Amino acid sequence: AQQGEKKSPLVYYVGVDVGTASVRAALVSRAGLLNSTAEEPISIWEPQADHYVQSSSEIWEKCCTVVKVVTQSVERSQVRGIGFDATCSLVVLDQSFQPVPVSQDGDRQRNVVMWMDHRAEEQAARITNTGHGVLSRVGGVMSPEMQPPKLLWLKENLKESCWKEAAHFFDLPDFLSWKATGSLTRSLCTLVCKWTYCPPEGWDASFWTSIGLEDLLENDFSKIGSVSCPPGSPLGDGLTQEAAADLGLDPGTAVGASLIDAHAGGLGVIGADVKGFHLPCEDQPITSRMAMICGTSTCHMAISEQPLFVPGVWGPCLSAMVPGVWLNEGGQSATGRLIDHVMKGHAAYTQLQEQARQRSNIYSYLNSHLSSMADSRSAVDLLGSSLHVWPDFHGNRSPLADPTLKGMVTGLSLSQTLDDLALLYLATIQALALGTLHILEAMKEAGHDIRTLFLCGGLSKNSLFVQIHANATGLPVVLPDQMEAVLIGAAVLGACASQDYSSIQTVVREWTGA
Ligand SMILES: *[C@@H]1O[C@H](CO)[C@@H](O)[C@H](O)[C@H]1NC(C)=O
Ligand SMILES: *[C@@H]1O[C@H](CO)[C@@H](O)[C@H](O)[C@H]1NC(C)=O
Repeated sequence: AQQGEKKSPLVYYVGVDVGTASVRAALVSRAGLLNSTAEEPISIWEPQADHYVQSSSEIWEKCCTVVKVVTQSVERSQVRGIGFDATCSLVVLDQSFQPVPVSQDGDRQRNVVMWMDHRAEEQAARITNTGHGVLSRVGGVMSPEMQPPKLLWLKENLKESCWKEAAHFFDLPDFLSWKATGSLTRSLCTLVCKWTYCPPEGWDASFWTSIGLEDLLENDFSKIGSVSCPPGSPLGDGLTQEAAADLGLDPGTAVGASLIDAHAGGLGVIGADVKGFHLPCEDQPITSRMAMICGTSTCHMAISEQPLFVPGVWGPCLSAMVPGVWLNEGGQSATGRLIDHVMKGHAAYTQLQEQARQRSNIYSYLNSHLSSMADSRSAVDLLGSSLHVWPDFHGNRSPLADPTLKGMVTGLSLSQTLDDLALLYLATIQALALGTLHILEAMKEAGHDIRTLFLCGGLSKNSLFVQIHANATGLPVVLPDQMEAVLIGAAVLGACASQDYSSIQTVVREWTGA
């Protein structure tokens, strides 16, 4: 190097992921490698059956804690951008941006209706019955996990304590970017996927009027968002003084418009370079891939050049995950949560915990226990041949789109042994994998041509879950080379907003492998 030439300083990006039960952050290098991660739990309250609420103040505090932890080894000036993803929960604030309670108990701090809250089933069914044109974008059926039924529930049930006071309704990812920058601009990802917004026209006033929420039209829809932009677009002037102080970063640090958590995972995995893997998707367009984000619930993200309408599957949504292409989102409302639920309810669960103590976790214990139960002649698959689970304990999101469905188990005996628990665990995973096949078939029928599955999220670390998905669907399964696809996806937003890269696709291409 010439004398006096400056070495280019090391730069980093921060990704923040607000999941169902915890907040995580990652510091990611210019090359897309994880430098460090941190995690903090967040509270979930269940004031009554099927109601799940959180606190936006607590969530923001925890975001600040984890960002401070992951950036402690670098100078503030080295952090070039930050991006947020979160569950698609509904945050309610008043005129002066203070929390508004969303429960009958009136606790002001509990101002977030969680994504998995099914209080608005009846409202969702009524919205479906209107048969309004916007429903064609959500598979024909309004889910209680989307925002319009939740808003309607608040108006009908908490008119005085909530609806009249509320001045701002945010999807949680947009709340976080507002908190960071003061910008009220919403991400197209949230508005299009969960709020029936449809670019280029935007909001459909006749929809809101027909469901009885005409008050939201006021002031150019200011309560639910008058301005939108694609994910990763730089917001405002970056971090405000106040947010920068909270997060321990420099004011003005670039902040990208947010993504829903599943979409961040999809972005972090679907573009992975698979050259040399000899996969059926290798010489195929990216539209031959489906990303599955497998955690508490599972999301099935399929993209296409032309809009495809899949009954019982959300979308098509333009640019909601990958810019310029259409997204269909299938899903299962309870997957990781179902496996936990089924195991915890079994008589041998305590025994399992004791047995698994020497292992890294109960799943790896169960996986090897099942292998030892299968003798040389029978595959693990066949152990479950007389025990069957119907996995819709929390309703069916896709492709039946029936939130009222319930779970079933057939083939039970009086056995309470660990073997019996292991078989129930296997049958549950098989049921979930067959649910994925059901979704794939619906997508295929509508014109998708999916050749390979790209899995990420907590459940993708469970080797049996991954293998059974390959066996049940007959498709190869690819895992990202970095297991934290969701955090990487969030950091991609910060990198994109920093304008150190020419486009979001460039960042994804440079950062992700398999
Ligand atoms: C993280 O970044 C710091 C500061 O540049 C560096 O000293 C450290 O070695 C990095 N750690 C990893 C695991 O890359
Ligand atoms: C998946 O299928 C293969 C081939 O039939 C079989 O060998 C294997 O045991 C199956 N895996 C599981 C987990 O059952």
